[in-house]
Amino acid sequence: MNILVTGANGQLGTEMRNISAGSSDRYIFTDVTSLPGVDTVYLDITNRDAVRLICQSEKVDVIVNCAAYTNVDKAEDDLAMADLLNHQAPGILAAVAAERGAHLIHISTDYVFQGDIALPCRENWPVQPNGVYGATKLQGEQAVQESGCSWQIFRTAWLYSPYGKNFVKTMRQLTSERPTLKVVFDQVGTPTYAADLAALICKVITERRMDRQGIFHFSDEGVCSWYDFACAIRDLSGNTCDIKPCHSDEFPSKVRRPHFSVLDKTKVKETFGIEVPHWYVSLKKCIERL
Ligand SMILES: NC(=O)c1ccc[n+]([C@@H]2O[C@H](COP(=O)([O-])OP(=O)(O)OC[C@H]3O[C@@H](n4cnc5c(N)ncnc54)[C@H](OP(=O)(O)O)[C@@H]3O)[C@@H](O)[C@H]2O)c1
Repeated sequence: MNILVTGANGQLGTEMRNISAGSSDRYIFTDVTSLPGVDTVYLDITNRDAVRLICQSEKVDVIVNCAAYTNVDKAEDDLAMADLLNHQAPGILAAVAAERGAHLIHISTDYVFQGDIALPCRENWPVQPNGVYGATKLQGEQAVQESGCSWQIFRTAWLYSPYGKNFVKTMRQLTSERPTLKVVFDQVGTPTYAADLAALICKVITERRMDRQGIFHFSDEGVCSWYDFACAIRDLSGNTCDIKPCHSDEFPSKVRRPHFSVLDKTKVKETFGIEVPHWYVSLKKCIERL
């Protein structure tokens, strides 16, 4: 099978590249950015003709869309670009997949939920995004579902990896430099090591489980606040910064973030027969790689 990965130089895309390395399928890694020493084909997913052309020329069977507009705060002032990347572009990928009978694996977010209920969110819960990022990601999900292509959507949360900018790398840096730090404890969720999500996606492809169409929730196991997560990052990094828990209103933001956005993973575990690692175990692996 020929697998096209978009946004391949981002966090998830890079882990897809690492984990698919031994696969007997043929992966084509694309992005609008290039990285030194990394083989990447240029593909802008907002360009329908370019998407169609590469899918034809490379005889693509599966598209894995790791590209997105992921800056939640910036999206509030950049609706047009967030809409283009998170809503219209998945629609383009899905339409091209439908035209050629290909399958689309698309990634979405816990930000489609309001996050006001202290219970793990299930796939069939009502959605109610708080800001532009969540709203455009939700519209992207809907465009995929309405396209007529074969699709799977994996909603994930709190993604981190050794690559790019993320909470783990920021906290590791800050707790090495500062004697004290405040981190919010009134937002609770579960971190997701991008390698764990990439492993699931590669397993779905390798085992040809693309027939199980639907939305699936995936994060690592367990529950924590950003404060707990920051303390674990500090400890595993061997730093000694004194981290104080604080409320979200001490860090004013244009976007109201979900207070409780733990994803219920029952469906993904039962459907694909996977065991999901606890977030602390995966965090340790990531920090060992940094
Ligand atoms: N990060 C999180 O905490 C989080 C949480 C929940 C869900 N998710 C979802 O998980 C998925 C993967 O996230 P991630 O953190 O791996 O994203 P990421 O690191 O921001 O990577 C996205 C990649 O897409 C590229 N891109 C931007 N515009 C493009 C275009 N027009 N055509 C092709 N590629 C383009 C980006 O390039 P530039 O760097 O140049 O923009 C970047 O390389 C996304 O769907 C995201 O919404 C992420």
